[in-house]
Amino acid sequence: MTAIKVGIIIGSLAKASINRKLAGALEKLAPEGVSFSEIAIGNLPLYSYDYDADYPAEGRALKTAIEAADAILIVTPEYNRSIPGGLKNALDWASRPWGTNSFAGKPVAVIGTSPGAIGTAVAQAALRPVLGFLNVIQMNQTEVYLQFKPDLIGEDGAIANADTAKFLGDYLKAFHDFAIKHKG
Ligand SMILES: Cc1cc2nc3c(=O)[nH]c(=O)nc-3n(C[C@H](O)[C@H](O)[C@H](O)COP(=O)(O)O)c2cc1C
Repeated sequence: MTAIKVGIIIGSLAKASINRKLAGALEKLAPEGVSFSEIAIGNLPLYSYDYDADYPAEGRALKTAIEAADAILIVTPEYNRSIPGGLKNALDWASRPWGTNSFAGKPVAVIGTSPGAIGTAVAQAALRPVLGFLNVIQMNQTEVYLQFKPDLIGEDGAIANADTAKFLGDYLKAFHDFAIKHKG
């Protein structure tokens, strides 16, 4: 398989984040040649265009990491039926200063988990128009809305159920093919 570098953005800032756990479990299922590297968003100040004239190191590091990745996988929770504030803040940082949108043309997929039955569906739906405006190339199918139950991920950090592991492994293979097709 052709090697690709995937930047992982985790939409939660919580230490015990179930989406961070999901990202770890996905890494274990990743096809050969796919390397995951987290793009941290927790140290970013709240964005304001006052920063544009002299972008701080945290903003520059975020933009560099996104630009260096072949594709981005966003693993996000749903907060109040929408995008977590920390994630939206990171997307705003990456999009600016005007004319330097780091996401432009980047292949991006979104996945997430929550304890609720619809498994981040509303957050993902809220994220899609934002990603559209950021001019990314979105993977539209397969969609993954994953309900988090205590037995979803085992002590070893892997997806415990074989059928779920197969489904997510197939999702990652599709993401790999999508990234190869669309990376610059
Ligand atoms: C501020 C806040 C808002 C939330 N809103 C939703 C929601 O709209 N839908 C949902 O399914 N879960 C919601 N939850 C529950 C989260 O799914 C749950 O806390 C989950 O652990 C968050 O993912 P994380 O651990 O990766 O941060 C909310 C949690 C918080 C803290």
